[in-house]
Amino acid sequence: MKAIKLEISPMQLGDIKEVIQIEKESFVSPWSVDVFEEQLSHLDCASYFVARVNGKVIGYAGIIFPPACLSVDTADGHNAETEGHITNIAIDKSYRRKKIGSVLLLKLIEEAQNRGSRVISLELRKLNTVALSFYKKFGFRIFGLRKDYYSDTGEDAIVMFVDNVSSADYQNRLQIIRDVIQFSEE
Ligand SMILES: CC(C)(COP(=O)(O)OP(=O)(O)OC[C@H]1O[C@@H](n2cnc3c(N)ncnc32)[C@H](O)[C@@H]1OP(=O)(O)O)[C@@H](O)C(=O)NCCC(=O)NCCS
Repeated sequence: MKAIKLEISPMQLGDIKEVIQIEKESFVSPWSVDVFEEQLSHLDCASYFVARVNGKVIGYAGIIFPPACLSVDTADGHNAETEGHITNIAIDKSYRRKKIGSVLLLKLIEEAQNRGSRVISLELRKLNTVALSFYKKFGFRIFGLRKDYYSDTGEDAIVMFVDNVSSADYQNRLQIIRDVIQFSEE
């Protein structure tokens, strides 16, 4: 397979126009420009990245660290100070299934570790079987369902977690994923 030259960098306000195009083709209820702008105005408790090929944005992903802003305990009793929550990840349709989502998810997990998070959580639509396979590959486990969570379709949300991103087992799992990724990254 010919290696794609992939550039990963923090999302800037100027990237949002391109990001929105991918957002619109990827989600039933896409985030607006305002939502992305708002997320980028709280980088003390959020990290967003874009992936580029030949200068064009072809994917993006984000994670928030709510306790940095809210200092709360979660309903299931674990310490929210150690939790990162993945908010968004999408790849341009013509670049899917080329491991670019994997590169971005690895970046979010590294970011969570750098910020001292042990637990990473996320929600996804019950019918999004592709995303379910994607996250399972990264060791996310199903924690439960949030009934009728999505107001646009009434769909349930699946809640997923990784318990301890720093454990040796989990790091081995990530290394196996890294080993088959063939991009040259800038
Ligand atoms: C989910 C998404 C980000 C995955 O990105 P991607 O770059 O296509 O995924 P990757 O190539 O890195 O795939 C990694 C693994 O995910 C799983 N996967 C990805 N696409 C899949 C598909 N179409 N069918 C089944 N499994 C799939 C596989 O396990 C794959 O590993 P493999 O190729 O070795 O079998 C992408 O499909 C997307 O943008 N979807 C629309 C937006 C979305 O649903 N985001 C998630 C919201 S919760």
